[in-house]
Amino acid sequence: MHRNLTCCHFHFFFYLLAASLVFSHRHNHGNPANDLVDIINKNRTDQKLPHLNDSPGLGCMALQYIELCKENCTDNNVVNCKPPEDDFTEVFAPNCGVELPTFGTITGHIIGCQKKYVEPSIAYSQVLVKDKSSLSILKNKSHSEVGVGLVGVHKSFFWCVLFSNGQTNTTFVLENRGEGIKQKTGCYSGSSAPCSGAHKNGLDPSSIFSMFYVIILLFTFL
Ligand SMILES: *[C@@H]1O[C@H](CO)[C@@H](O)[C@H](O)[C@H]1NC(C)=O
Ligand SMILES: *[C@@H]1O[C@H](CO)[C@@H](O)[C@H](O)[C@H]1NC(C)=O
Ligand SMILES: *[C@@H]1O[C@H](CO)[C@@H](O)[C@H](O)[C@H]1NC(C)=O
Ligand SMILES: *[C@@H]1O[C@H](CO)[C@@H](O)[C@H](O)[C@H]1NC(C)=O
Repeated sequence: MHRNLTCCHFHFFFYLLAASLVFSHRHNHGNPANDLVDIINKNRTDQKLPHLNDSPGLGCMALQYIELCKENCTDNNVVNCKPPEDDFTEVFAPNCGVELPTFGTITGHIIGCQKKYVEPSIAYSQVLVKDKSSLSILKNKSHSEVGVGLVGVHKSFFWCVLFSNGQTNTTFVLENRGEGIKQKTGCYSGSSAPCSGAHKNGLDPSSIFSMFYVIILLFTFL
């Protein structure tokens, strides 16, 4: 049975297995918050509205906004939550490491929730921009920058978008050379930090598939 299985076959399969793991690992590290920023910008520029710059400081505060509202997703997927205005400067900014003198003007926000994680394009049309009022916020000409945060908590997934009229490198600047304060869960746009527990639990189907494929290959050789 084992006569054909030399050391080199084994090595070959280990390389394949390692490659499929590395691939799935990278695959999971995509940042859906960045994808949502791209979708927002595509929608705006298709309507001849200016492109918005991605602000990590705004994105992180969007994540903080969710943190405060995470108990408030209703059965109809509406976020019933009104954070006090002061929370932006007193809670969200400090928790993100936004340098306070660079705090700009928030010109709009959109927040949505759903019971399960959906891809960014679905989140855009079914969770965030699903009515006229959210579309008019998105299309407002005052905005010049945007930040998106997302996180899954208590069996609900939240997406939050914040807009500002500031200049990207002079407003909502994150301390520690743009790193800011590491967030415990979720992910936000413009960040180099990978998403943690934000959108997928464990391995996704395609990586499980590719591992099974390699294992089946291994067994057909035996
Ligand atoms: C979330 O919902 C609870 C219960 O309805 C309410 O008391 C609370 O004020 C809400 N939180 C915020 C930040 O609006
Ligand atoms: C656009 O946003 C600004 C700032 O939030 C607000 O004052 C203005 O009313 C908005 N314009 C429209 C058309 O909604
Ligand atoms: C922009 O998004 C809105 C809301 O989903 C959609 O109704 C509209 O068709 C989109 N416009 C463009 C040009 O893609
Ligand atoms: C400021 O931001 C713009 C684009 O957002 C970029 O092209 C430019 O290099 C930045 N300037 C500095 C000093 O970082």
